[in-house]
Amino acid sequence: MKTPEPSLAAFLADCQQRLERALEHWLPAATTHPVSLHTAMRYTALNGGKRIRPTLVYASGQAVGAEHTHLDAPACAIELIHAYSLIHDDLPAMDNDDLRRGKPSCHRAFGEATAILAGDALQSLAFYILTHDNAATPDTATRMRMIETLSLAAGSRGMAGGQSIDLDATGQQLNIAELEDMHIHKTGALIRASVMLGAICRIDTSDGQLEELDHYAKCIGLAFQIRDDILDVEGETGTLGKHAGMDEQLEKSTYPALMGLEAARQRATELHEDAMDSLSGFPASADPLRWISRYIIERER
Ligand code: IPE
Ligand code: IPE
Ligand code: MG
Ligand code: MG
Ligand code: MG
Repeated sequence: MKTPEPSLAAFLADCQQRLERALEHWLPAATTHPVSLHTAMRYTALNGGKRIRPTLVYASGQAVGAEHTHLDAPACAIELIHAYSLIHDDLPAMDNDDLRRGKPSCHRAFGEATAILAGDALQSLAFYILTHDNAATPDTATRMRMIETLSLAAGSRGMAGGQSIDLDATGQQLNIAELEDMHIHKTGALIRASVMLGAICRIDTSDGQLEELDHYAKCIGLAFQIRDDILDVEGETGTLGKHAGMDEQLEKSTYPALMGLEAARQRATELHEDAMDSLSGFPASADPLRWISRYIIERER
């Protein structure tokens, strides 16, 4: 699939517009002291990307009937954590990648020290937004729960932990359980948090709904990284906006390396089907979640 189907395309465009407005509101101007740091933060956070995580916040919120105005803060916060993770992921000490979203990666544009600080500061800003956005939930317990969800997902038991597993696994042969554990942490955790953040924005989302959505999120989170691994093998640098073929060069543990491209594709399809099953009790308001699940396994960037 080259471009998202029209219904998803319209939903994505709408979410992206809301997100860009929110990011523009919360990111300090490039002229704000210290200028180099704020310029680097804006360079990374405002330079495109698919915006899948914030779109999931809106889609999940819509599935449970949450108000859009309550979703802007968590959408913005999760994207900033993701942006920070990309800056650090590209550093020479990690994946040493000089291309991101079709432009020089942050450390190539601003130097390593500023890139590290920009990542740190984007992470802090995410939590500042969750605590300070007046339009977010009026319920303090919900706000605390959002902060808890995001901090756990970003930290050593979530994304940062997954990145650590990834680095330790470089050059090693993982078995399938170990590989899935790595993917669930490094990529799955933020995707799961995106869905949960949207769902908890509505105070009376039932425990049953949360469980179904959590299962959906786990499936698509793993499928997302499997597709990322596949695209690293068969994608084009120009389309991806990042260098293809890096995983093999860096001896990364990936799905295609362990089980081959066809089996990796098959696993992603199974996960998509499992994700769809977990939405079977949801009404048409959950359709964007359905479209996103398919998009994740068919995307070409
Ligand atoms: C890339 O994420 C990093 C992974 C977790 C695989 P995305 O594919 O969502 O990157 P952008 O935000 O669209 O650039
Ligand atoms: C990165 O995984 C995951 C995080 C940024 C947390 P990858 O290293 O595979 O992501 P890309 O391929 O560089 O985008
Ligand atoms: Mg990496
Ligand atoms: Mg990388
Ligand atoms: Mg990758």
